[in-house]
This record gives sequence, structure tokens and C-alpha cells, in this order.
Amino acid sequence: MKIAVIGKGGSGKTTVAGVLARCLARAGREVVALDCDANPNLGISLGVGLDMTEQLAGIRQSLEDGGVEHAPTPEELLSRFGAPAPDGVRLAVVTKIDQPNPG
Ligand SMILES: Nc1ncnc2c1ncn2[C@@H]1O[C@H](COP(=O)(O)OP(=O)(O)OP(=O)(O)O)[C@@H](O)[C@H]1O
Ligand SMILES: [Mg+2]
Repeated sequence: MKIAVIGKGGSGKTTVAGVLARCLARAGREVVALDCDANPNLGISLGVGLDMTEQLAGIRQSLEDGGVEHAPTPEELLSRFGAPAPDGVRLAVVTKIDQPNPG
């Protein structure tokens, strides 16, 4: 099952995504939470903390920088970029801009 949470700015996407991910994980589902926001902060909502959230590398930037190869499988991708979050959720950041400004 794939669930995408979308909506206008400030409408509660990150909060809903974090709650959904943790509730599904607690119910026994294997959950991978992908933060697709260019200014990613799903980690904070998931409970991994501000420091860890800020340290997570964006998959797209890492590939573009050439530091890592394309992973052959989703599992390998997650082993390289996935971070453990509470309730067994695994979090990965899809993309990240360096200096997000309002708007
Ligand atoms: N159901 C809710 N009831 C009241 N406040 C909420 C609810 N969901 C989210 N909020 C609050 O609304 C604000 C925006 O929520 P959130 O960051 O999840 O939105 P967002 O859509 O991800 O925003 P952005 O577009 O900036 O990424 C936060 O302060 C959050 O605590
Ligand atoms: Mg958000």
C-alpha cells in the first residue's frame, strides 16, 4: 500500500504523514516514510529529533554529487539512506534544497 499526503502549504501534511506512519507501524505494518518536501521535516513529526532530521542526506543530491551509486533494489536504497524512527518506521529523504527560503 502506498499513501501520499498532499495539500496546500501549512494544511497539516507533515503532521498527518507522521501520525499515519507511526499508527500503521504500531499496527504491525512495515512502514517506509519518504519525505518528498524540498525542505524536509518529516523526521521531526516522526520523532527522530531535529539534529537527526537535519543530518539526513537527500537521496537525489547524494546521487547527483556522485558519492554513491544507484542502488539495485529498494531494500539496498533504504539500507543506504533509511534512518530508524520510533515504532519501527524507516525514514528516507528524497530531495533537499540547501538554503530554503520562505516561498
Ligand atoms: N489536525 C490539526 N489540528 C490543529 N493543528 C494542526 C493539525 N495538523 C497540523 N496542525 C498544525 O498546523 C501547523 C502546520 O502543520 P504541518 O507542518 O503538518 O503542515 P504542512 O502541510 O506539512 O506544512 P508545510 O506546507 O509548511 O510543509 C503545525 O503547527 C501543526 O502543529
Ligand atoms: Mg510539511
